[in-house]
Amino acid sequence: MTAGEPRAAFSEAYGRTPTAVASAPGRVNLVGGHTDYNEGLVLPMAVDLRTAVALAPRDDGRIRLRSTEFADEVVVDGLPDDPIDDRDDSWANYPLGVLVELDAAGLAPVGDGLDLLVTGDVPQGAGLSSSAALEVATAAAAYGLDPGVETGTDLPKGRLAEAAWRAETGFVGLDCGIMDQYASALCRADEALFLDCRSRETERVPFPDDDYRVVVVDTRVEHELAASAYNDRVAECREAAERLNDLLGGVDTLRDVDRDDFLAHADHLSAPLRRRVRHVVTENERVRAAAAALSAGDFDAVGDRMYESHASLRDDYEVSCRELDAVVDVAWTTDGVVGARMTGGGFGGSVVALVAADAVDEFSARVDRALSEEADVHPRTFVCASAEGVRLE
Ligand code: GLA
Repeated sequence: MTAGEPRAAFSEAYGRTPTAVASAPGRVNLVGGHTDYNEGLVLPMAVDLRTAVALAPRDDGRIRLRSTEFADEVVVDGLPDDPIDDRDDSWANYPLGVLVELDAAGLAPVGDGLDLLVTGDVPQGAGLSSSAALEVATAAAAYGLDPGVETGTDLPKGRLAEAAWRAETGFVGLDCGIMDQYASALCRADEALFLDCRSRETERVPFPDDDYRVVVVDTRVEHELAASAYNDRVAECREAAERLNDLLGGVDTLRDVDRDDFLAHADHLSAPLRRRVRHVVTENERVRAAAAALSAGDFDAVGDRMYESHASLRDDYEVSCRELDAVVDVAWTTDGVVGARMTGGGFGGSVVALVAADAVDEFSARVDRALSEEADVHPRTFVCASAEGVRLE
């Protein structure tokens, strides 16, 4: 099966027309690395690459799932209790987890089964959060199965994002924060989204695409540590919050720790925990500063916060690697690149850079050269425009 228009792809796959179609974008995060699961602040932007999900109901309880990315159909009888552990079919756990969550929340009529088709152009494993795009598109399409919901209806985007996030943490089993699902659901074109991962409050920050581009460099490197290190950092942050709660009181998560608290009690933390907390505290400050700078149209200041974020993720949070640092070094020495930092979990993956429109080609060429010469790595580069969040098609 080939990628393409979701209705046509659905008809090709199942020989009938879909009842509901939705699409959701991938995202980049300009600043705010590893703050979301500490109930902190982030500044993501949706990008113009989308995943579409088309659905039609069945009446026999069976769920059939197909993707233009994968050859095999996945079939389950009834909403499953546990994820599929066959590696080849594990992509289906994202939409299945969402259906389970929506059913439990009474948000979508999915209990009698359905046929589901996934298509789109969000690349997997490139740091653009293809999994959140798939989850959020599934949530909206399933919500759209209700005959009372028409294209153009206002979607309950926050509730769909929460269901998508619960699918990832509860069903798929990755202990991630809420950023990706919220960004894919709530972002809008020409804006970045200032998101408070504790209160779920948002502020829209204008991001005019006239003079600057957001460039994502996927190193295509994934060091073995990646998955376990993410969970290790989550655990270290919990431990540091508990320790600081003993000293200060009132600390549920590191969000409750500000710079003064940190400076006053840093000596009571082990050296690694001190570095982790310092990253989280200063990163929240950088998100506020970057959002203010972006509102004022000061792209240089946004870029400076990105470089600082990278240094903090590298030195204090210790989740960078040689290849990511090499890309940020190229950014630093290329005219017209105003900022860059690693994004995502770390130990491989991608760098997000803020680049003057006329410097994009030079930057990509220099990154290619540097990585192939220094590290025998061949990155792929995505030049992203801002885009609208989830919608019914
Ligand atoms: C991954 C997770 C996000 C976030 C980032 C780090 O992308 O999915 O929730 O924690 O890492 O900022």
